[in-house]
Amino acid sequence: MNDTTKLNPQLDEAGRLRHLLRLKGLSREFITGLLDRAVSYQTQLGEPPARDTLLKGRTVANLFFEPSTRTRASFELAAKRLSADDLKRDVNMSSRTKGESLLDTVYTLQAMQVDVFVVRDASAGIPEYITQNVIPQVAVLNAGEADTSHPTQGLLDLMTIRKARGTLDGLTVTVIGDIAHSRVARSISEGLAIMGDNELRLVSPQGLNADPELYPQAHLTSDIDAAVRDADVIMALRIQKERIKEKSSLMTSMEYHQQFGVTEERLQLAKPDAIVMHPGPMNRDVEISGPVADGSQSVITQQVHNGVAVRMAVLAAVTEARLS
Ligand code: CP
Repeated sequence: MNDTTKLNPQLDEAGRLRHLLRLKGLSREFITGLLDRAVSYQTQLGEPPARDTLLKGRTVANLFFEPSTRTRASFELAAKRLSADDLKRDVNMSSRTKGESLLDTVYTLQAMQVDVFVVRDASAGIPEYITQNVIPQVAVLNAGEADTSHPTQGLLDLMTIRKARGTLDGLTVTVIGDIAHSRVARSISEGLAIMGDNELRLVSPQGLNADPELYPQAHLTSDIDAAVRDADVIMALRIQKERIKEKSSLMTSMEYHQQFGVTEERLQLAKPDAIVMHPGPMNRDVEISGPVADGSQSVITQQVHNGVAVRMAVLAAVTEARLS
């Protein structure tokens, strides 16, 4: 094992992508390369999507143990557009419901010559645990891990910001919502810190605040108006009720919208050309107003569009590194 591999088990000895677990530990040059590759896999809406034969003969299995629309659909499309065999798993119909362990499910599919596992799970550490138990030829991609990491979301957010603002350096980025439970906030925070000298402002209501140890470089506040002022990027996050036991302490949707919603009035405080983002799923008129979500400053549709290209780039990278 050389220094690169010891430093970051996501990379192989040549510094190529072996698994994707988190953005932390990847270099600016490496992430720039992934984003550039994603751009090369993109065509305009209305045109036929980009296709490649790079994954012909390879098999990609989606293991989603939490609900998903965007991530799952875009990984499925990315695999198909790279000519892979794509194995969809309906978790409710799998033998895990009969008591089979996660690893036995992985071993079963590995025996069927799956090359890439795309994993979403509510427990922290599951994607890394799978990497420690698969054969060396198999790659594992984190498609959303508890409140810990969502690296392909982080990459598509970086891609969207870079395209809209022309840079990933010197930006003020304000993320508003349930930071305490947000893997999206964790990944964009890691990505922005790698890519440049960016100011990250994290706004959350009482009880949903970020752990300061996880965000040593961010400004943590509950003053939304101050945090939105002069921002280049505003990102709204939903409240992750599925991760909150004491729901009775939450404010009503109307109260939340008044106090923490991204509204047209609040958006006026940001830079005139600020962009508005949301990773989805979106609760209109709770964390973001309908007119802002659909307005000229919104890049929410572009985030979804970029998600397929980013996942193609990541699948291509691990294929070249591990499977050729
Ligand atoms: N942003 C995101 O992860 O959305 P899904 O839960 O729909 O995949």
